[in-house]
Amino acid sequence: MGWPYVGETLQLYSKDPNAFFSDKQKRYGDVFKTHILGCPCVMLASPEAARFVLVTNAELFKPTYPKSKEKMIGPAALFFHRGEYHNHLRKLVQSSFSPEAIKKLIPSIEAIAVSILGSWLSGQVTNTFQEMKKFSFEVGILAIFGHLERQQKEELKENYSIVDRGYNSFPQTYQEQHTTKALMARRRLSRILGEIICERKEKKLLGNDLLGHLLNFKDEKGRTLSDDQVADNIIGVLFAAQDTTASALTWIIKYLGDDPKLLEAVKAEQKTIYLSNDKGNRNLTWTQTRNMPLTYKVILESLRMASIVSFTFREAVVDVEYNGYLIPKGWKVMPLFRNIHNLNFSVTLKILTHIGGKWWAPKIWYSTAHFQSLIMDSGPGFGKSPKSKISPPLV
Ligand code: HEM
Repeated sequence: MGWPYVGETLQLYSKDPNAFFSDKQKRYGDVFKTHILGCPCVMLASPEAARFVLVTNAELFKPTYPKSKEKMIGPAALFFHRGEYHNHLRKLVQSSFSPEAIKKLIPSIEAIAVSILGSWLSGQVTNTFQEMKKFSFEVGILAIFGHLERQQKEELKENYSIVDRGYNSFPQTYQEQHTTKALMARRRLSRILGEIICERKEKKLLGNDLLGHLLNFKDEKGRTLSDDQVADNIIGVLFAAQDTTASALTWIIKYLGDDPKLLEAVKAEQKTIYLSNDKGNRNLTWTQTRNMPLTYKVILESLRMASIVSFTFREAVVDVEYNGYLIPKGWKVMPLFRNIHNLNFSVTLKILTHIGGKWWAPKIWYSTAHFQSLIMDSGPGFGKSPKSKISPPLV
């Protein structure tokens, strides 16, 4: 557990965090304890333990974020809550990003992708992650608001990026100015969102996007959401969607760049669709997006390999016993997605190059919120078999 208070924080930050966690896992097994950033923690590195904390016994643990971060995103955002409010909002977000809802957005998402690709033709050096962030932000705005006026979108973008920078900086250092600026930008975001909400209500056109669903919401007792709750959840979803999606896309590009044979195969798959759409003169269809077997496998395998969200936090609300271990009340509990995804399986992208062969271990359990399902072996056409039930990434 290391030094008093400091615990093992310095070891964690002074070396590669992956090495820190996997060394511990090798020494102590899939459940081990440590002390970081002033908190005693139990680390969990098996799919069963992650499922225990996040799914089957979720009521024994609460989400735990620093107050400063809660303030920046908005305290009513669903992931700071448990119980009824959390369940309602989770369902609402899921239905706003369901295949039915996404289907209608395909032509607009394609247009965003084409326009961003077009902006790369100038020959300038581009930062892939920043470009992917632009893409995921635009798609996020589309899914949340439908089509938004240019000026409102620009104002949201500018202020959201200041909040984003502040969120990712340490509060007590020279970066403090980022935090202050971020809180001011967050207030401006509330005002802009307030105006958009007001316009929507005036038009009495609630729409089928996330904003429409939030404004339409009524619980069993007929209670609706306040404007602040709506705004906090919009910022929350943007926050949950933007960097994660941008990282996933960046890793996909990196892995494909590392494997020219695989890249060629993916390009060939995409080119067939492009040609069948009269070289892009006809829009990509939903059915076509469901029929990209190799591309889809590359996406899933990249998600597993990169494990973008390397771990998450919970806090035990009571003493909890798991498999003979006692997790004391108040201790942080951290399912380590990266260790689960990377150490438990030996599947690598190299295997993916055997097109038509078997790429997947018989059972892979994705432990993130979106991939809580078993993926069974399947050849091309993945996703169609009743056995291979998986929620696709939300964008
Ligand atoms: C590759 C992309 C993504 C990855 C890897 C990812 C990963 C995760 C993970 C690991 C969690 C669980 C966090 C926890 O419970 O502590 C989570 C939660 C969440 N994600 Fe994503 N996410 C992605 C994309 C998105 C997108 C596009 C959306 C947009 C709707 C989204 C919305 C959410 C929401 C609302 C939650 C909170 C769920 C809850 O509290 O029940 N995510 N995500």
